[in-house]
Amino acid sequence: MKIDDVKNVCVVGAGNMGHQIALQCALSGYKTVSTDVVPAVLEKAEKFVDNYLPGRVQKGKMTEDEAKAARSRISFTGDLKEAAKDADVVIEAVLERVDLKRKIFADLDKIAPPGAILATNSSFIVSSRIADATTRPDRVCNLHFFNPALVMKLVEVVQGSHVSDETAQCMMDFCLKIDKIPIHVKKEVDGFVLNRIFSAIHKEAFWMLEMGVASYEDIDKACVYGAGHPMGPFRLLDLTGIDLAYDIGMSHFYESGDPADLPVPTIVKKYTEGKFGQKTGEGFYSYKK
Ligand SMILES: NC(=O)c1ccc[n+]([C@@H]2O[C@H](COP(=O)([O-])OP(=O)(O)OC[C@H]3O[C@@H](n4cnc5c(N)ncnc54)[C@H](O)[C@@H]3O)[C@@H](O)[C@H]2O)c1
Repeated sequence: MKIDDVKNVCVVGAGNMGHQIALQCALSGYKTVSTDVVPAVLEKAEKFVDNYLPGRVQKGKMTEDEAKAARSRISFTGDLKEAAKDADVVIEAVLERVDLKRKIFADLDKIAPPGAILATNSSFIVSSRIADATTRPDRVCNLHFFNPALVMKLVEVVQGSHVSDETAQCMMDFCLKIDKIPIHVKKEVDGFVLNRIFSAIHKEAFWMLEMGVASYEDIDKACVYGAGHPMGPFRLLDLTGIDLAYDIGMSHFYESGDPADLPVPTIVKKYTEGKFGQKTGEGFYSYKK
């Protein structure tokens, strides 16, 4: 697949990441279908689009015609077959569970045209763990967006050894087409580039919190006012989802069997209390107002 052949995009999963990735693709001129298994999630995603576009027009960021054109390019369906049957690029953004992703990729392999690229937005699951569920491992890669996907410019294109140069190049070009700044990650390493750096910061932040060195608010302040980060590690966890941090820790533990990989006690406590961050109205901070 070459970039000029890419016309249609399908985004599987319309949650935190998926709905914004889909809208970004539609805004950039691609005919885009957004799909999810939960009807309420799809409705919310569609409502988001219907509020976002007029909001951009009001702010003078786009014309009414541009907004109308973008709206006409994005559609929503709960039917994966309908969503992926004409896709040249599929971006999967479902829960961070390897078995679920493998099942979806096996299904996509049967549904999407044979030349289509199947990419996963997974934060930590490398595509080599999914690619062999398909008959096209050279066209299965990681395409890692950051939250919020409409705003954050970086996308990591991860080329495991099974991914062809053509696929990696097409994904790099695709990112530029959708107004993102791609980086080429040439090896499958845990956390890719940026989350690997963040993991080190988070580990230290949790150690200090759990040892009573400083409160989470003060640790966040240190990162914001001392290091110039846009937000501290605890505020960031609230944004990205404490459930996601829990899933990532558990899947690391299942793979390694090393208790050191388990999510830290504070994450387990918040997870069992259902305090997942912004999406549930409370995480480390409260978002109820
Ligand atoms: N949250 C972040 O900040 C962030 C950042 C980068 C990457 N990611 C990655 O993106 C992926 C999604 O994360 P999220 O935060 O958007 O999760 P989320 O829980 O907000 O959304 C996941 C969506 O997948 C849907 N889903 C589940 N099974 C499905 C299926 N079979 N078919 C279609 N949809 C299905 C769920 O209904 C849900 O709406 C994960 O792999 C995560 O690692 C997340």
